[in-house]
Amino acid sequence: MKHKEEKKVLGQRDDKKITVGIIGASGYTGLELIKLLDTHPRFSLEYVATSSGEGSVESLHPALKGVNSVDVSKADAAEANRLDLVFLALPHKTAFGFAKDLTTKVVDLSADYRLKLEAYEKHYCPHGDKGNLQNYTYGLIEHYREGLRNTRNVAVPGCYPTAALLALLPFMDHIDFDAPVIIDAKSGVSGAGKKCSEKTHFVKANDNMFAYNPLKHRHSCEIAEKLSLAEETVNFVPQIIPATRGMIANCYVQLKHDIDPAQVLGERYGQEPFIRLRETPVEIKNVAGTHYCDLYAAKNGKTLFIASAIDNLLRGASSQALAAANIICGLEEMTGLPRIAYVP
Ligand SMILES: NC(=O)c1ccc[n+]([C@@H]2O[C@H](COP(=O)([O-])OP(=O)(O)OC[C@H]3O[C@@H](n4cnc5c(N)ncnc54)[C@H](OP(=O)(O)O)[C@@H]3O)[C@@H](O)[C@H]2O)c1
Repeated sequence: MKHKEEKKVLGQRDDKKITVGIIGASGYTGLELIKLLDTHPRFSLEYVATSSGEGSVESLHPALKGVNSVDVSKADAAEANRLDLVFLALPHKTAFGFAKDLTTKVVDLSADYRLKLEAYEKHYCPHGDKGNLQNYTYGLIEHYREGLRNTRNVAVPGCYPTAALLALLPFMDHIDFDAPVIIDAKSGVSGAGKKCSEKTHFVKANDNMFAYNPLKHRHSCEIAEKLSLAEETVNFVPQIIPATRGMIANCYVQLKHDIDPAQVLGERYGQEPFIRLRETPVEIKNVAGTHYCDLYAAKNGKTLFIASAIDNLLRGASSQALAAANIICGLEEMTGLPRIAYVP
């Protein structure tokens, strides 16, 4: 971190510290990363970059005044390569524009390295770093942990896919895929990033709730790909709710045989420190501000309902990125992950 009073030469090593940077530090997930890294015992935030390179962390994020005063740089891949690891908190396409020139460890929060090439180019844009796709490991911690131990590059899952996949993956052997998989998901407004749009304008979002891109949202293909299903099988409807942060994915599937859902979840996640199995329906307030995913399941005959709640900015983005960074740097996976929710 380039504190004004103790400016270090970029990339200069402290044996105990692993040097990291954030490109895209002015956005919401960038802000969350700065906050998480401020208290991390091993990562030293040395490089904070935006498109303009103007100002300081304090001026980008006034809430951090007095917390740290960091110089902000204009984003530059060559500078970032002097660090041990770089987080990319950028829009898709902009992310691969930087990643293609990065030789250090990369944890990318965008969609650019999550999908197979064909699916990416169908739903996003022509890929500008195709040759590198195979070098990225999907960062859904509980299901890709072993792969993460052997990689230098991480594609952090999308927020909706994180919530939906954590709910559905334990039940794959029990679901009747001749019936549709329905994912009805609701997100706080911060899921859309800091730039205001017609959908996220206060007057539209406040006291309101509405679906957007029903059955056509780009996260459908990410969910389908990671479940090894055809896109048509997955019926995903995202909605915006009048909350700042937090997300729920309500998943409805048909069972092909009788199961005890609580037992299935317990067997898969009983030892997972950041998955909490609930006996009552999940709530975003219990997870907002944390890395936890809360899960609840119930059934009615052959219909299985699984609900998953996460903080979209943390478990759905920045704390999942941090957990993956811990793993690829050989640190204890839970180091610095937030556990205390913003309650009441
Ligand atoms: N928000 C969520 O809940 C969430 C969850 C999961 C994944 N994600 C993904 O995470 C990524 C970041 O999301 P976000 O919500 O943090 O978006 P955001 O609030 O819009 O922030 C993106 C930042 O990228 C910066 N940027 C754009 N072009 C740049 C460039 N050429 N060089 C340096 N910085 C540049 C912008 O900074 P300037 O304005 O200074 O240019 C902006 O602050 C996206 O790919 C998003 O899809 C977001």
